[in-house]
Amino acid sequence: MSVSGGTGGCAGAGGAAFDLTAASLHGSLADPALESMNFLNEVASRYPGAVSFASGRPTEDFFDVALLHHYIEVYCRYLSDDLGLTQEQVNRTLFQYGRTKGIIHELIARYLATDEGISADPEAIVVTVGYQEAMFAVARALRADDRDVLLAVWPAYVGMTGAARLADLPVWPVRSGPDGVDLDDLAGQAGRARAAALRPRACYLMPDFANPSGVSMPVPVRERLLEVAGELGVLLLEDNPYGTFHSGSHLPTLKALDKNRQVVYLGSFAKTAFPGARIGYAVADQLVAGTDGSVSLLADYLSRIKSMLTVNTPSVAQAVVGGKLLAHGFSLARANERETARYLGNMRRLLDGLASRFPGQDGGRSPVSWNAPTGGFFVVVTLPFDADDELMELSARKYGVLWTPMSHFYAGQGGLRQARLACSQLPPEQIDVGLDRFAAMVRDRLGGSAPGIRAGTGAGLG
Ligand SMILES: Cc1ncc(COP(=O)(O)O)c(C=O)c1O
Repeated sequence: MSVSGGTGGCAGAGGAAFDLTAASLHGSLADPALESMNFLNEVASRYPGAVSFASGRPTEDFFDVALLHHYIEVYCRYLSDDLGLTQEQVNRTLFQYGRTKGIIHELIARYLATDEGISADPEAIVVTVGYQEAMFAVARALRADDRDVLLAVWPAYVGMTGAARLADLPVWPVRSGPDGVDLDDLAGQAGRARAAALRPRACYLMPDFANPSGVSMPVPVRERLLEVAGELGVLLLEDNPYGTFHSGSHLPTLKALDKNRQVVYLGSFAKTAFPGARIGYAVADQLVAGTDGSVSLLADYLSRIKSMLTVNTPSVAQAVVGGKLLAHGFSLARANERETARYLGNMRRLLDGLASRFPGQDGGRSPVSWNAPTGGFFVVVTLPFDADDELMELSARKYGVLWTPMSHFYAGQGGLRQARLACSQLPPEQIDVGLDRFAAMVRDRLGGSAPGIRAGTGAGLG
């Protein structure tokens, strides 16, 4: 939000002028990456009647306040019955400042072993305020000086781009391609960075149902990626908020395949528990040699950053997530059976709905095409015209349907004719309503006579 009347300076109580021009603030504040989320939220709030394919929020249909109480009780019983804590100690655990690296690290390690086949040392886990804090801490730690750069598969989640920007860590794009990472491009970018006397520290990617592309990496590509990254000497930052929501074939994460401590695993409970808890974590088991010859875990260095950022992750929120893990035998796949069924059903409905409204994509007769992820929250639609912020705003105002311009995930450098459609939060029948409106917008944009587009019913806000 901006207010009018400012002159760029500001008078203090004693008449002294503070230098508060935007140019005097940190450079990241002028970066569009930091405005993306605000912009999208702001458009959504202006058109509350619009059907939103924009948000990758989890469904709200299974939220229940009683569960919060239940999970805290389960966690407290675990503290007293399993760990033998006194009532005083239980009280202290929930009410007092807590361990910087978190209090549910052991439970997270058991969950990772149960659902993901990841064998994680609990001491290598830092429980953070969402994925976002973990990502920032890693970026801050890896950015020692101006030579450091982060490689990232493009298009990329704006939370990652923004966190790297806050940490002054430049991001160099790596092509995704159909397999989720173009290994030649990864090697090429790392080589170009080195030739420019820069240090590519790590490559950020999302092997399962990536946001925004929806693409997943085949297992041989994951295996080859670990080899290539090892040869290049770059760490892999694996972000995996959507892997739980698959249709039966659960592929091993990079961290599960990692034998050389190459992968920093960035977890989030935003979709598998709930985003309001703001609980995420990093598994950072890399060994860091100290100047005095000692060796510590990267997790301990992330913890130092965290101690000055959020001190510790709120204990009450950790207790709720810990209780959820305990209550479901450490399996979030089991805990999310209803949610997964909903997301897969919504995905099917979205893909079928696109096919019926834009027939002929397979034969190349439709001007509109899209990919077909087998899980996760996101589908990318390619259009024969620019799908920019201006069109998104028109789409919300005139047609009552919201989606996300893909250009936001390319830092404005690509994806101009693509839209990301998220299907997670909508009630199933709203998907049809939204697609009718989307198809009406496309039809009007093409002059109403494009081949391969069927008229929807109920277009417009009505
Ligand atoms: C790619 C990606 N990573 C992580 C997250 C979760 O972040 P957080 O735990 O900070 O809510 C999201 C949520 O939208 C996401 O899309």
